[in-house]
Amino acid sequence: MITVQPTGKILGATVSGIDLSRPMSESDFRTILTALGEHGVLRFPGQELDAAALKAFSERFGPIQGSVTGKFHDPQVPEVGILSNIVENGQPIGLADAGQDWHTDMSYNRTIGFVNVLYAVKVPRRNGQALGSTVFANMRAAYDDLDPALKARLGGMTVTHDFNKFWEAMRQRPGSTRGPLTPEQRAKRPPSVHPIFLVHPITGRKVLYANPGYAIRINELGEAESDRVLEMLFEHQLQPKYQYVNEWTENDLLIWDHIGTLHNAIPDYGPDEHRLMQRCQVMADWIFDPEFQRKSLSQVAAE
Ligand code: SIN
Repeated sequence: MITVQPTGKILGATVSGIDLSRPMSESDFRTILTALGEHGVLRFPGQELDAAALKAFSERFGPIQGSVTGKFHDPQVPEVGILSNIVENGQPIGLADAGQDWHTDMSYNRTIGFVNVLYAVKVPRRNGQALGSTVFANMRAAYDDLDPALKARLGGMTVTHDFNKFWEAMRQRPGSTRGPLTPEQRAKRPPSVHPIFLVHPITGRKVLYANPGYAIRINELGEAESDRVLEMLFEHQLQPKYQYVNEWTENDLLIWDHIGTLHNAIPDYGPDEHRLMQRCQVMADWIFDPEFQRKSLSQVAAE
C-alpha cells in the first residue's frame, strides 16, 4: 500500500509502497497529486526505471517539454533529458546543470511548468558524503509571510519571465559550453507574463510566483521600482527558513511542484565526481483546467 511520510520540514515527503515502473492506479495517482500539493517535493526511493517508464510516469502529470537545443536526451526516448557533468570522448553526455542558481523551470512559458521528475542514476560522493544535493524553497510559506500591505499592493500585478535571462547567466559561467540562443531558439522560448501571486491548482492556496532565474519585470511598476521590489522579493523568498535540502541516493525518483517551489542544484562536486540524472519537465496544462479546478481532489478521487 502506498504511504506518504512527511519529512517534518518546510517541504518534502518520502513515498513508499509503489513500483513506478508499473502502470499507476487512479487512486495512487490522486494520493501522489494531493501529497505533491501539500509537501511540494516527493522522494520515491529504490525505483528501477528505464527511460520509457520515466516518461510514462511523468506524462501522468501533463505533457513533457523537450529540450530547446535538441541535444542531451535519451536516444530512444527524447522526452527524457540527460543532466550530467560526464564527458566521454571529449564530449559532454548531458546538460551541465550545476550552479544554475535559484529558479523555477518553465516559468518563461505561456503554459508554465508543473513538475520536474528527476531520476538519480549517478550521485557524486566524497568521503562517503553525497554531493550535488538539490535545495528547494517553499513559495506558499513565502507568500503567507509577506506583509499584508505589500500583498494588497502587488495583488493583481503581473511579472514577465524570460528564458534568455537564465541562459545568459549560465553562459557567463566559467567553463560553460553554451552559445547565445539563436533567433530561432529565442522564438521557441519567447518571454511570458504571469500573475505575481498564483492560486495553486491543487491546494487553492496562494503562492509567490516570481523567481530570480527568469523574472525580469513587474509590468505594472516603473522599471526602477520593479527592480527594487523584485530584489526585495528574491531576498525574502530565499531565506533559509523556507529551504529544504534533498540529498540524493542512486535510484531515487524525485518529483517536485514548480508552481509552489523554487530550486537550486548545488555545484559542490568536481569534474571527476560524476553526477547523472534523467529528467522530464512537465507542463501545467490540465492541472489549470477549469473542470479540474471546479472539482475538489477528493470529489475526483471518489468518482
Ligand atoms: C533542474 O534544475 O531541473 C535540475 C536540478 C538538479 O539537477 O538537481
